[in-house]
Amino acid sequence: MKANSLHLPIVVVALIALGMLVTSSCKHDPLITGIDPVDTTGHNNPTDQVDTSGWPCSPDTVYFADQILPILVSNCAMSGCHSATDPKEGINLTTYAKVMGTGKVKAGALSGDFWESINSTNPRKQMPPPPAAPLSQDQIDLIRLWILQGAQDLTCNPGYGGCATDNMSYLNDIQPILAASCIGCHSGTSPQGGILLNSHASVVAMAQNGKLLGSVKQDPGFIAMPPAGNGLSDCSINRLQAWIDQGMLNN
Ligand code: HEC
Repeated sequence: MKANSLHLPIVVVALIALGMLVTSSCKHDPLITGIDPVDTTGHNNPTDQVDTSGWPCSPDTVYFADQILPILVSNCAMSGCHSATDPKEGINLTTYAKVMGTGKVKAGALSGDFWESINSTNPRKQMPPPPAAPLSQDQIDLIRLWILQGAQDLTCNPGYGGCATDNMSYLNDIQPILAASCIGCHSGTSPQGGILLNSHASVVAMAQNGKLLGSVKQDPGFIAMPPAGNGLSDCSINRLQAWIDQGMLNN
């Protein structure tokens, strides 16, 4: 009798302690459990907190390095505009730090000069300024989501889990790569370097003279493309290469 009544509180205390252990171990589950996957983009700094949510890319998350920076480089960072070498009004839009350093992006809020200028129809405020084409609605929507998600500096690895390169389609695989990273500079009436990349025929011509791959691989003897930002991912380069090897179909 006496032994039982002594044991009861011990059991209760033990159960409470066990309960606390279980809940606290849940609370302290590491947020990051994934093992660092092979990162072919070169953005993965092991000293940073690694955000594995980017691998594989979540369709609901906007990744600055992969989705926003190419838009800015391709539409804003031409020489004489917002490039690294001669940024107009000191506004350099070629890295995350520089973009945020302008103080013109308001994380979480659809206000501020950056958001207002890409949505403006006033020719004195509008960015990119006429005669350059305004950003497309898709690009503006992506930027909107990026701002609302906190204007973070996220990277995803489009090649995570393998980069499919079989049966490349010009329309579904190649054109989107060029649209994201190249066409802002290589289209219109006065394309940069006199080079168009906005039609199948023009891309084939650049592939046949070797400049398309040479420039994106940054091979010696070619001018590195895109001229600012992070460069194309290995997966995108492999896809361009595969499309060329597969006969540059207009499919
Ligand atoms: C910010 C503007 C800009 C972007 C973005 C850009 N280019 Fe260019 N590109 C240029 C300019 C300017 C030149 C001409 C450079 C020169 O002649 O000094 C050029 C030249 C080239 C050339 C000729 C290279 C050579 O070695 O002769 C190729 C090919 C090319 N670009 C392809 C691309 C591709 C592919 C992309 C996308 C992955 C791209 N460019 C993105 C501005 C851009």
